[in-house]
Amino acid sequence: MILIFLVVFLHDVLAAEEILRDRSDIKVKTPNYPDNYPHNSTKIWRFKHNYGVWSVSIDKFFLENSLDCRKDFLEIMENKTSVKFCGTKSSGSLYTSKGPEILLKFSSDGSMQQMGFHLEVLHFVTEGDIEKTINDRERKRAARANVTKYVEGKLTDSVLFLTLVSLLGLALVSLILLIVYYIVNINRKNRRQNSNYNRNVVFQTPIIATKSRRYSKSNSREDSKAEANRDNRTPTRYV
Ligand SMILES: *[C@@H]1O[C@H](CO)[C@@H](O)[C@H](O)[C@H]1NC(C)=O
Ligand SMILES: *[C@@H]1O[C@H](CO)[C@@H](O)[C@H](O)[C@H]1NC(C)=O
Ligand SMILES: *[C@@H]1O[C@H](CO)[C@@H](O)[C@H](O)[C@H]1NC(C)=O
Repeated sequence: MILIFLVVFLHDVLAAEEILRDRSDIKVKTPNYPDNYPHNSTKIWRFKHNYGVWSVSIDKFFLENSLDCRKDFLEIMENKTSVKFCGTKSSGSLYTSKGPEILLKFSSDGSMQQMGFHLEVLHFVTEGDIEKTINDRERKRAARANVTKYVEGKLTDSVLFLTLVSLLGLALVSLILLIVYYIVNINRKNRRQNSNYNRNVVFQTPIIATKSRRYSKSNSREDSKAEANRDNRTPTRYV
């Protein structure tokens, strides 16, 4: 449970970091800038994202000029296409990528050195990406709202649940009390019946009756015989 929470939390944090990264701008400078760049120097910057495009704009741009920029140059590569820039350029937009991944390459030869360039590379999200990002955020917010709602629902439910439990508890207690009452009553009845039965036994069982009479009242055989006959018993049993 805690692990799931942690994963969700980390995912959200990472997502937030990703969104922040969208807005960050990156400065790209030639080696030693604003001093002259060295000879035979090569430097590569890679810009990669899952979506959106990259915009490269110039702050300063002073490179050795040459035909087809064969000497010192800035090359911007995207997929298998590439564009080279050299000479002096005024500040402003230089390149906007079509995809989310570009590669910048600076190269100088053994001849003339210059100040180099200072570029700003910005990541932009396309209309679709903006929609997707907003939808993602909206979806997340909606999900969170749903969770909150769900919790609230659970709270309301729990009140209902508590009420139900209380009612059920009350019913159960009543039932137990009833059962106890019944048991006590039955026990009392049984005791009463048992005592009645015992009394009946005393007065109905001829053995005890006769015996008691035999030993307490009279020991005569005639008496016992008569009693036995009266009780429909065979007199032999008492001889
Ligand atoms: C680069 O390649 C990716 C995938 O191979 C593709 O989606 C994208 O559109 C390409 N970009 C350009 C500028 O051709
Ligand atoms: C630059 O490279 C060229 C050709 O490879 C070489 O002749 C030259 O000496 C190099 N310069 C420096 C400063 O390394
Ligand atoms: C929020 O809950 C409703 C109703 O239960 C559901 O239709 C909707 O898809 C949920 N939204 C999300 C983002 O989970």
